[in-house]
Amino acid sequence: MSVKILGTGSFLPENVVTNDFLSTIMDTSDEWISSRTGIRSRHLVKTEGTTKMSVLAAKSALLDAGIQASELDLIIVGTITGDEITPSTACEVQAAIGADSAVAYDINAACSGFMFAMHSAYAYLQSGIYRNALVIGAETLSRIMDWNDRSTCVLFGDGAGAAVMGMGQEGILGFEQGSDGARGSVLACKSRANHNPLVQNETGLDYVHMDGQEVYKFAVTTVPASIERVLEKAQIRAEDVKYFLLHQANIRIIQSVAKRLHVSMEKFPISLDHCGNISAASIPILLDEVNKKGLLNKGDKIVMSGFGGGLTWGTCVMEW
Ligand code: UT7
Repeated sequence: MSVKILGTGSFLPENVVTNDFLSTIMDTSDEWISSRTGIRSRHLVKTEGTTKMSVLAAKSALLDAGIQASELDLIIVGTITGDEITPSTACEVQAAIGADSAVAYDINAACSGFMFAMHSAYAYLQSGIYRNALVIGAETLSRIMDWNDRSTCVLFGDGAGAAVMGMGQEGILGFEQGSDGARGSVLACKSRANHNPLVQNETGLDYVHMDGQEVYKFAVTTVPASIERVLEKAQIRAEDVKYFLLHQANIRIIQSVAKRLHVSMEKFPISLDHCGNISAASIPILLDEVNKKGLLNKGDKIVMSGFGGGLTWGTCVMEW
């Protein structure tokens, strides 16, 4: 027996913001954004929040899995943009869907958040501690962007994706995750006021700051190496993998990974063109799109790989 994904779901806010619209409110252009990143539009919330989007993605994943919320033992949400510091998004999801028996908590691993959540659930399920888990990646990144910094705000979007995990004959064949805290400052957000009256609040720390080129270099070296290690350990050849579902940060990063693995870009489904980078939510949203299009058949091997703030990365290979 192995740990498998029983069902997927996702939610994107109704409000679509195109590159052309952004070029009316800041000094940018569709040409700059799309040629450097592959992004053409993104969904940005007007009324939704991280909890609401998580709940809608979760309900869709439960329906797809044919599992009742009452059967869940565990809910983990990967997010850096929960609506509140406490309760966690996972506890709010638990209450909203009525998963009364579940233990619920959030994980902060930025763009690797969904992979870290999945690996944590895998450990609980594989060891027999729990039977069914709901893992979610959800972000309202528009809340923490500096909308005067065109080099970051055009890249990101909002949304949520979810997967229900349980036991099956086929499933996760191998994974790895890693962190490099020493390089964390290249992608950081110090967005929290200090209410201690004895401490002077720092200023100018309210938004995401990114050294794009350093993150790019980190991604194009770490991600293919991580995928190669996971495939080698599982004794699976890259050509036998049907799809590589990568964190959707930049089309150039994905093209570079495909080249390094000697794999056609056709094996790399893309959602960043209409979603932008949604950090922890990007992989589960992409997985749900691929699943709901009917592109996954029993026995297909897929790789998922996330990377980003921390710095962190996580990769997994599974048989569908
Ligand atoms: O999940 C997190 C993962 N994050 C990433 O994967 C990010 C990885 N990095 C990247 O994708 C790229 O570094 C970016 C797309 C973020 C930036 O591309 P770049 O080729 O590294 O551009 P740059 O930052 O070196 O900027 C080049 C020029 C600058 O102008 P000058 O100084 O050459 O005159 C920028 O001011 O482009 C300018 N620029 C813009 N121009 C129009 C920066 N942002 C924009 C913009 N529109 N939105």
